[in-house]
Amino acid sequence: MRVLSGVQPTGVLHLGNYLGAVKQFVKLQDQAECYFSIVNLHAITIPQNPQVLMEKTRDVAAIYLAVGLDPKKATIFVQSQVKAHAEAAWLLQCVARVGELNRMIQFKEKGKGSDSAVAGLYTYPVLQAADILLYQATHVPVGDDQKQHLELTRDIAERFNRDYGEVFTVPAILVNEVGARIMALDNPEVKMSKSAESEYNYITLLDDPKKIEKKLKRAVTDSENVIRYDPETKPGISNLLVIYSQLADLSVRELEKKYEGVGYGRFKKDLIEVTVDTLTPIRERYHEIRSSEELDRILREGAERASGVAEQTLCRMKEAMGIL
Ligand code: TYM
Repeated sequence: MRVLSGVQPTGVLHLGNYLGAVKQFVKLQDQAECYFSIVNLHAITIPQNPQVLMEKTRDVAAIYLAVGLDPKKATIFVQSQVKAHAEAAWLLQCVARVGELNRMIQFKEKGKGSDSAVAGLYTYPVLQAADILLYQATHVPVGDDQKQHLELTRDIAERFNRDYGEVFTVPAILVNEVGARIMALDNPEVKMSKSAESEYNYITLLDDPKKIEKKLKRAVTDSENVIRYDPETKPGISNLLVIYSQLADLSVRELEKKYEGVGYGRFKKDLIEVTVDTLTPIRERYHEIRSSEELDRILREGAERASGVAEQTLCRMKEAMGIL
């Protein structure tokens, strides 16, 4: 089993990133050969302040370590420090079809059909395919919103193998049964997102207890005062139940039972406690790691290891395509 996944350094990670993806990374590092990337080349498909982007890239690396990723078990690296990614992305752009890219929902959402969207935003999913296929990943843990990109990756791999000969492993998508789509606290009809306008949309992994309390107290519920999982008619409470269940490793069913006949006030109070208890050690470790010199060393070593694997696949791709 070989695993690859990545996170964009476009902001501090939130509970959606954690419960949908990163928490799985930590489990998988004990079961598989793992590669976890900070995908900074993807981040520049929307405008970034160069200085801030560099800082945010290190921030995500420090968060990876703070949540428990261990560089002795998993390879942690920055995408741009492994040159094969950009090169393989070009080769795969000559395999992917315009029609496929036209159908990508994220491009439509982020580009909004504007002529001034950068071309990289359009070809973004092909770079993501390169990220994955270079490592011959068998499994890719992601949140629900990445499913379409993963389907495209599989299609590109299959087409390449058919047209040029067997080079790629066709990866399976690993999506959590519960927690694959964490919704916004202030509007449970949309997903929790780093780019949201209001900070009441999300809880970041670095929020302090006061902020966590304030945000969860404000989280949208309904007027029924009954704790029941029903995403159709009770999206707010259902989302909080999912968050609670994933943080406390309890099933939604168990939580419904525990809170039978109990109102939202008590439920939220307990959820605040569980969230603070989970995030406090992460926040503390983050601050230790972020200021240490070890971080750059870990990233350097990670990039070296990742390059070794990626270069081998890139060579095979070029050979298959007749590229000198
Ligand atoms: P990104 O940076 O937007 O998100 C990182 C991971 O977090 C998941 N996620 C969520 N899960 C549940 N609920 C949410 N509200 C939520 N928001 C985000 C995402 O699904 C993702 O798994 N294109 C990717 C980055 C990428 C990548 C890759 C991923 C680049 N190359 C190769 C896997 C493999 C992205 O923008 O993720």
